[in-house]
Amino acid sequence: MIGSPPSYTVNAYNTPMIVARGLTKLYGTFPAITEVSFTVHRGEIVGLLGPNGAGKSTTIRILACILAPTAGTAEVAGYNILRNSVAVRRHLGYMPEVISLYPEMEVTTYLDFVGTMKRLGRRERQQRVAKVIDELDLGEVARRYIGTLSKGYRQRVGLAQALLNDPQVLILDEPTIGLDPEQAAEFRALIRGMKGQRTVILSTHILSEVRTTCDRVMIIHRGRLLALDTPTNLTLKLRDASEVIAHIEGPAAMIEKTLLDLPGVREVHSDIAGNGRLGSYLIKSAPEIDLRPLLVETITRQGWRLFELRSRDMDLEEIFHRVVSSPLGIQ
Ligand SMILES: Nc1ncnc2c1ncn2[C@@H]1O[C@H](COP(=O)(O)OP(=O)(O)OP(=O)(O)O)[C@@H](O)[C@H]1O
Ligand SMILES: [Mg+2]
Repeated sequence: MIGSPPSYTVNAYNTPMIVARGLTKLYGTFPAITEVSFTVHRGEIVGLLGPNGAGKSTTIRILACILAPTAGTAEVAGYNILRNSVAVRRHLGYMPEVISLYPEMEVTTYLDFVGTMKRLGRRERQQRVAKVIDELDLGEVARRYIGTLSKGYRQRVGLAQALLNDPQVLILDEPTIGLDPEQAAEFRALIRGMKGQRTVILSTHILSEVRTTCDRVMIIHRGRLLALDTPTNLTLKLRDASEVIAHIEGPAAMIEKTLLDLPGVREVHSDIAGNGRLGSYLIKSAPEIDLRPLLVETITRQGWRLFELRSRDMDLEEIFHRVVSSPLGIQ
């Protein structure tokens, strides 16, 4: 598996907040997840990414103490999910894939009801309900019936109920599913705003969501965890070439030949504008080489004009396909 030790710069404190050890869940004889192990640290936002049926909800429901694993165990906020599920629930906020909201209840009444279920005292309950309504900008719908809310607001109410007990750990199962792009972006911003405050696992099958919201990404496929790392580190480990894009003005044929002759360069692809002089060049080299300093030097020496120079990151789509199409996972 790709991933450790973590080389990301998420925070200064590396307290493990979610530790899964060999989680396995069989439905009959069908393994929904197999020996899933990982650690998420305090204040991190981690995306659990996988296609339909990969085992995301199964993993999440085990962590939330909704489902017992067939084998393996986990600690959430320092408490064991099997031995101390009451303490886990106290420190955890969980937003399920399908939220059971009561359509005939007003938002405030519903949140107060959830607070009672979570065993918050009267005073604390009132304070927390007011706080989450404020935090999630639910003020203008606080007295509306849940059944009359838009999907975007309903998801927010779902997040509000998860936050009522002011949890250290928040686990969200595909929270942006069914939202329009604007609502989804707002929802992601809310989650992103929790960075450093809470430890968050967010499941999704939307690659760009992970890129914009999460510090690290776990890739799960057919019940197995295949990778856990930052998108940047995954790119470095998975790509078989380093790619630089340069926009250069000058004699195209000569530029292409010169670039190809540089040490370490394997391929050059060009796209030349109508005037035959301004070109976009994609230059591929061995993955460990950063060609940019040499390119700047060469282009300057030749007297060509450089308009842009950047390395091309593999996007998550490519990472995902590369990871899931590897027969053994990534070792
Ligand atoms: N109660 C169940 N009984 C039998 N099989 C189940 C049960 N729940 C889930 N599965 C199977 O376990 C596998 C993992 O399911 P899970 O719901 O964890 O996937 P997921 O990654 O959340 O998928 P999705 O993106 O569709 O929500 C799937 O093949 C699913 O059909
Ligand atoms: Mg699911």
